[in-house]
Amino acid sequence: MNGLVSEPASAVGQAGADVLLDLVGVSRRFGGLHALSDITFRVRKGEVVGLVGSNGSGKSTLFNVITGIYAVSAGRILFQGQDLSGLSRHTIARLGIARTFQSPRLFTGLSVLENAVIGVDAPYKTPTLLNLLRQLWIPWHRYASAARGAISACRLGMHEDRNPATLPYGERRLLEVSRCLVSSPSLLLLDEPTAGLSDEESNALIRLLHGTARDTGLTLIVIDHRVSFIRALCDRLVVLNHGELLEDGLTAAVLAAPHVIAAYLGEEG
Ligand SMILES: Nc1ncnc2c1ncn2[C@@H]1O[C@H](COP(=O)(O)OP(=O)(O)OP(=O)(O)O)[C@@H](O)[C@H]1O
Ligand SMILES: [Mg+2]
Repeated sequence: MNGLVSEPASAVGQAGADVLLDLVGVSRRFGGLHALSDITFRVRKGEVVGLVGSNGSGKSTLFNVITGIYAVSAGRILFQGQDLSGLSRHTIARLGIARTFQSPRLFTGLSVLENAVIGVDAPYKTPTLLNLLRQLWIPWHRYASAARGAISACRLGMHEDRNPATLPYGERRLLEVSRCLVSSPSLLLLDEPTAGLSDEESNALIRLLHGTARDTGLTLIVIDHRVSFIRALCDRLVVLNHGELLEDGLTAAVLAAPHVIAAYLGEEG
């Protein structure tokens, strides 16, 4: 790193009650490939952090190790002080970490509203009839009204009875975001949420996420290649390059740093 770490990151450099997520020397290998090497950073409650870097730099892999899809090869991940190693993805979801995937994972046999109701660990479930019944019937009364609120905040309210397979790609992505918000997670990880969104939809998503973070204290880590979206949404950026942490600092400073421009922004302007 080139010393861009400024207020948000240096403040989290000291252990404190407001640290929500703490990554310490996290590495992940796939055979001989070092997808993540010795990644250390912390995220405080209520922060909106952008995770950026070129294709293949390890961003989705980082989400996959935080959410228990992959085990770390080395290092530790603490969430609210609890070590996540060895916990299943369902347990991690229930601790309050929700996520979307780079490609939407929705149940196309269910309506938009039903997809929003079925809960935070739904993307990890095999869509057997038993799983669907269990997930849909049990939480229905508890979550139906929150689900309606979330899909209407994502401007999908008029589509609540539709099969999500009939929605444009951008709206399927928004449905995933709304499903994540229903169970009020503490930490939300969004993997390229603006892929397929128009500029207007992506601005609406910024307003929704800012509003949710302000009203509920939600903490966000967002991967996205759209620099205008990242600039408008995030307080702070963590930059990965070939699996290593290249920079961590305030958004404007990171985006203006020559070594970040050279490694990441070069082709994208
Ligand atoms: N399950 C896997 N098995 C083998 N290699 C993998 C696996 N998952 C990821 N990788 C490799 O790890 C590296 C990082 O991949 P990752 O998907 O995390 O990148 P990314 O930063 O999300 O890229 P993009 O911006 O294209 O989505 C890549 O070289 C990728 O091929
Ligand atoms: Mg990715």
